[in-house]
Amino acid sequence: MLNTSLRTSNTRWHAPLVDRETRTSLTNGAGLTCWLTGLSGSGKSSVAVELEQQLIASGKPAYLLDGDNLRQGLNGDLGFSAEDRSENVRRVAHVARLFADAGFVSVVPLISPYKQTRDFARQLHNEADLAFVEVFIDTPLEVCESRDPKGLYKKARSGEIQGMTGLDAPYEAPEKPDYVYAPEDGTAKEVAAKLLESLTTLFV
Ligand code: ADX
Repeated sequence: MLNTSLRTSNTRWHAPLVDRETRTSLTNGAGLTCWLTGLSGSGKSSVAVELEQQLIASGKPAYLLDGDNLRQGLNGDLGFSAEDRSENVRRVAHVARLFADAGFVSVVPLISPYKQTRDFARQLHNEADLAFVEVFIDTPLEVCESRDPKGLYKKARSGEIQGMTGLDAPYEAPEKPDYVYAPEDGTAKEVAAKLLESLTTLFV
């Protein structure tokens, strides 16, 4: 499902002259990726925007890589088949790693329904010696559906759209996420504040 084959035979890695230490001296410590997975309507994006704002307010460069937003540009050619979602995650994982390498915190709210593709994202970061934190926004389907902020569950139930995650497309919940938050853990702002505290130890 995840296509990682490369057509790069006539290219080679051109090493930068700036090392990571020099880079991260400008960004208040090392970069990392904070990956938020969960169903549509789970609250991932709400936590992510708060987290990005709180990170920047605390003096740490951060950048939001939101699935919905990226699908309006970089990933605008992708739909919601299993293949397209995997390609979506593959591209965003690479972009997140670039920002993390630059010393930023990449904040990535993406449904990313398949364990294999989330593991790929983690592995990419491991290979580059960058921290990768997987956060499961564990909001039950019934709650997401009752919120239905974009009316997508309603459309899926009436047959207007197919392949809705959690209904007629799978969501593989993380087995060992680094952090799990359920609706009773607080507002998006409160969850972001808890996450900020946990992430801060990783900037060194
Ligand atoms: S992912 O599955 O490829 O990781 P991504 O996070 O980029 O998804 O995009 C999800 C967003 O696309 C949802 O928040 C929702 O607004 C929209 N969307 C449109 N169609 C679907 C669908 N069939 N399933 C889930 N989300 C959908």
